[in-house]
Amino acid sequence: HVDDERAEVPQAGDSGLRLLKRVGVVDPESLDDYRATGGYQALRTALLLGPSGVIREITDAKLMGRGGAAFPTGRKWDATARQPVRPHYLVCNADESEPGTFKDRLLMEGDPFAVIESMTIAGFAAGCSKGYLYLRGEYPRALHLLRNAISKARERGFLGANIMGHEGFSFDIEIRRGAGAYICGEETAIFNSIEGFRGEPRSKPPFPVEQGLFGKPTVVNNVETLVNVPVILTEGCEAYTRIGTEGSTGPKLFCLSGNVSRPGVYEVPFGTTLGELLDLAGGVPPGRELRAVLLGGAAGGFVRPDELGLPLTIEDARAAGTTLGSGVVLVLDDTADLGSFLLRIAAFFRDESCGQCVPCRIGTVRQEEALHRLVGKRPLSTSAADLQLLREVGQVMRDSSICGLGQTAWNAIESALDRLGYAEEATS
Ligand code: NAI
Ligand code: SF4
Repeated sequence: HVDDERAEVPQAGDSGLRLLKRVGVVDPESLDDYRATGGYQALRTALLLGPSGVIREITDAKLMGRGGAAFPTGRKWDATARQPVRPHYLVCNADESEPGTFKDRLLMEGDPFAVIESMTIAGFAAGCSKGYLYLRGEYPRALHLLRNAISKARERGFLGANIMGHEGFSFDIEIRRGAGAYICGEETAIFNSIEGFRGEPRSKPPFPVEQGLFGKPTVVNNVETLVNVPVILTEGCEAYTRIGTEGSTGPKLFCLSGNVSRPGVYEVPFGTTLGELLDLAGGVPPGRELRAVLLGGAAGGFVRPDELGLPLTIEDARAAGTTLGSGVVLVLDDTADLGSFLLRIAAFFRDESCGQCVPCRIGTVRQEEALHRLVGKRPLSTSAADLQLLREVGQVMRDSSICGLGQTAWNAIESALDRLGYAEEATS
């Protein structure tokens, strides 16, 4: 995470920013400031459109999840809205824990009322009577500001019964805090955590839209995904699809960190190239050479300096063998120690595995051990055998782990071996 002082703060006025337009500009404690800058206009529009009209707008805007998996948001809302079982729940996933990810923190600290309004719209569309905001435990400032926003919204009739005078629409929000476990950002582990059980993922299917929190139909959306909703309802889905590319619509937040001159959160349209984004952040420090960029976080993959023309879209990232994930752009220059970096990733997954399933519990330990021998070039180690072991363990974790943690714990390491030539480097 970058220091607050170093984080990129957007400018007011004609900045072209949509998601970050209020961040650093309005008083995040003031509902009046929020309303004076267009706040709650989108909820008013939503109430006029009705639940199915809102879902149509979001579907036609082709909004995709910004937490990492890029699942179509309209499909999730529609599937939940259709479930006859009641009640329905909404969960805002604010347990932002992917290393190198700090965009949701900026949104919650800079524009907390937007998060609350967006949740209310989602709740209205999917027929939810209650929303839970599951907040990363290490975000105390966001907690303070969100609590303040919820209580002011309640006082002024933007939460509670008959919201904005709309007969029959009741919705309220409760904050639940995580306690430091990375796995509690996995959506079904959030359900267990809220219900008072160990924060361990459940097998999917059934998907949350059918059986989620307390066994009821549940929409789970990431903070950034939700904050796109007022943009769509205010500007219209057609205008929204003109931002970005055909396959990846809208604006996107990227978190730049590592060996980069101006680290921080940057809002750009999908389709901006990686090179353009790095230029915005001032590139690598003067006198240094770019070694690689880790795109998409620990579950993502490396991009080489000769690939900076890569358009930042869901489809282009996938074709390049990586993912945009939650928007991590972690820059390594020629001073970076790639071996130590990979070991840190392996240790992270070993530490954060919940231990529920064997491939991940054992695999993440074996992966770290083999990598340790490989990187350390220990005398007893036979590097070729360790490489083979890494590949076998990685494949087993990918194929047979219950959740995304185990399934992706080998991604960045495999990418370094194959795309950055680390396999040859480590065995030479
Ligand atoms: P997933 O692909 O299993 O699911 C994505 C979403 O779509 C979920 O909400 C799921 O319920 C829903 N879904 C999938 N198929 C469905 C269907 N047939 N019907 C209805 N709903 C369906 O991915 P997952 O495990 O939820 O997320 C993995 C991503 O999370 C990774 O790409 C990673 O980048 C990201 N991540 C983000 C972190 C952060 O701090 N933002 C932390 C760790 C991982
Ligand atoms: Fe837990 Fe890992 Fe299995 Fe996920 S894959 S359920 S984190 S042991």
